[in-house]
Amino acid sequence: MRSTFTAAAVLASTASAQLYPDQSPYNHTCELQKPLLSCPPQDPSLVDSCCVETFGGLLLSTQFWSTYTGGESTGQLLPQDTWTLHGLWPDFCNGSYTQYCDLNRQYDPIPSPNTTTGKPDGVPVPAYNGSDIGTFLEPFGKYDLLEYMNNYWIAQNQDNAGFWATSSPSTPPATLHSTLLATVRSTRFPTFEWLKEADITPSNCTTYSYTDIRDTLVEKHGGLPFIGCTGPRYNTTEAGKNSTDNGYTVLSEAWYYEYVYGRPQEMNTIPVNASATYYTNCAKAAGAIHYPERTNGSTRVPTLPF
Ligand SMILES: *[C@@H]1O[C@H](CO)[C@@H](O)[C@H](O)[C@H]1NC(C)=O
Ligand SMILES: *[C@@H]1O[C@H](CO)[C@@H](O)[C@H](O)[C@H]1NC(C)=O
Ligand SMILES: *[C@@H]1O[C@H](CO)[C@@H](O)[C@H](O)[C@H]1NC(C)=O
Ligand SMILES: *[C@@H]1O[C@H](CO)[C@@H](O)[C@H](O)[C@H]1NC(C)=O
Ligand SMILES: *[C@@H]1O[C@H](CO)[C@@H](O)[C@H](O)[C@H]1NC(C)=O
Ligand SMILES: *[C@@H]1O[C@H](CO)[C@@H](O)[C@H](O)[C@H]1NC(C)=O
Ligand SMILES: *[C@@H]1O[C@H](CO)[C@@H](O)[C@H](O)[C@H]1NC(C)=O
Ligand SMILES: *[C@@H]1O[C@H](CO)[C@@H](O)[C@H](O)[C@H]1NC(C)=O
Ligand SMILES: *[C@@H]1O[C@H](CO)[C@@H](O)[C@H](O)[C@H]1NC(C)=O
Repeated sequence: MRSTFTAAAVLASTASAQLYPDQSPYNHTCELQKPLLSCPPQDPSLVDSCCVETFGGLLLSTQFWSTYTGGESTGQLLPQDTWTLHGLWPDFCNGSYTQYCDLNRQYDPIPSPNTTTGKPDGVPVPAYNGSDIGTFLEPFGKYDLLEYMNNYWIAQNQDNAGFWATSSPSTPPATLHSTLLATVRSTRFPTFEWLKEADITPSNCTTYSYTDIRDTLVEKHGGLPFIGCTGPRYNTTEAGKNSTDNGYTVLSEAWYYEYVYGRPQEMNTIPVNASATYYTNCAKAAGAIHYPERTNGSTRVPTLPF
C-alpha cells in the first residue's frame, strides 16, 4: 500500500506556488497554448510549466474497498455502494515517485515513513500538529467540497482529516482546495458500478476471479489499473492448498493511471496501463478473490451524490 507522499505543488492553481527555480513569471495564459501531453516528460525549460505537468506527468487515482472504518462510534461511516477515495498523486512518467519534496507542506499528523528517505539516517519528518486540513477549506467557503470529502474520502483506523493530509500532494493551504477537488474528480471512475454491471458485487458467499475483475475494469476505464488485494495468501487458504499461487485473496484497491493534456484541473486525460512490473498482488487462480460485504453498521447512505 502506498502511504505518505508529498510531491510538487503541481496541482496548484497559481504561479506563486512555484517550487522549482528558473521558471518565468511571464505568460501562463494556458488558454492560448496548445495543451501538451504530460508524458513522455516535457522539458520545463522549453515549455510553460504552469500549463502542462512537467513534474510527475503520470496521474494516479486510487480507491479503496474496505469493510469498516474503526471510527463507527464517532459516525465515521463508509458510503453505501461506492468505493472510497484514497488519493491522487502525480508520479513520474516512468512510474517512480518521490516523497517529501517540501517539508513545510507536510500536513500528515502521522508521517510514514518518518524520515525523508525512509531510513534512520534520513532527515526527520516532523509530525503535523496544526489544525486539521479540512479547516483549510472553511475560509474559502468550500463547505460543499468538505461535505463531499466527508462522504467519500473515508479513512480506516484514523480520522478523515489526517488521512486527507496523507493522501494529497503537498500544496499550500491557499491552493489545497484545487488539489482536493482534483482528487474528488477521481470519482469519474465508479469502480463499484463498473463491477456491478459485470455482476461482480460484494458477497460473503461467492468468490471471483482476478481476470474477470481486471477485464471489466480495463473495458470501462480504458487502461489496465493496478488491482490490489489484502488478506491471506491463496496457498495458505483451504481452497488454495497445494497451489503455488501465493497472491492475496481479498479485493481492496484499484489504482487508475492517466496522462493529462494541459493543466490537470481541466481533466483532459487519457487512460494508460499501470506499470507492467506491478499489475496486481492478487491471486490469479480461478475463484480465488473475495469481494467482501461491508460490516453491518459501517455504512450510510451518502448525503450527496457520488
Ligand atoms: C511569452 O509570450 C511572448 C509572446 O508570444 C513570447 O515572445 C515569449 O517568448 C513568451 N515567454 C515565455 C517565457 O514563454
Ligand atoms: C524516473 O524519472 C525521474 C524523473 O525524471 C528520475 O529522477 C528517476 O531517476 C527515474 N527513475 C528511474 C528508475 O528511471
Ligand atoms: C521513526 O520511527 C521509528 C520506528 O517507529 C523510530 O524508532 C524512530 O525513532 C523514528 N524516527 C524519527 C525521526 O521520528
Ligand atoms: C508543533 O510543531 C511545531 C513545528 O514542528 C513546533 O515548533 C511546536 O512546538 C509544536 N507544537 C506542539 C503543541 O507540539
Ligand atoms: C494495456 O493492457 C491491456 C490489457 O491487459 C493490453 O491489452 C494492452 O496491450 C496494454 N497496452 C499497452 C500499451 O501496454
Ligand atoms: C492437496 O494434496 C493432497 C495430497 O496430494 C491431496 O490429498 C489434497 O486433496 C489436495 N488438496 C487440494 C485442495 O487440492
Ligand atoms: C505458497 O507459495 C509460495 C511460492 O509459490 C511458496 O514459497 C510457499 O511455500 C507456499 N506456501 C504454502 C503454505 O504452501
Ligand atoms: C463480510 O465479511 C467481512 C470479512 O470477513 C466482514 O468484515 C463483514 O462484516 C461481513 N459482512 C457481513 C454483512 O456479514
Ligand atoms: C447483517 O445484516 C443482514 C441484513 O440485515 C443480516 O441478514 C445479517 O445476518 C447481518 N450479519 C451480521 C454478521 O450481523
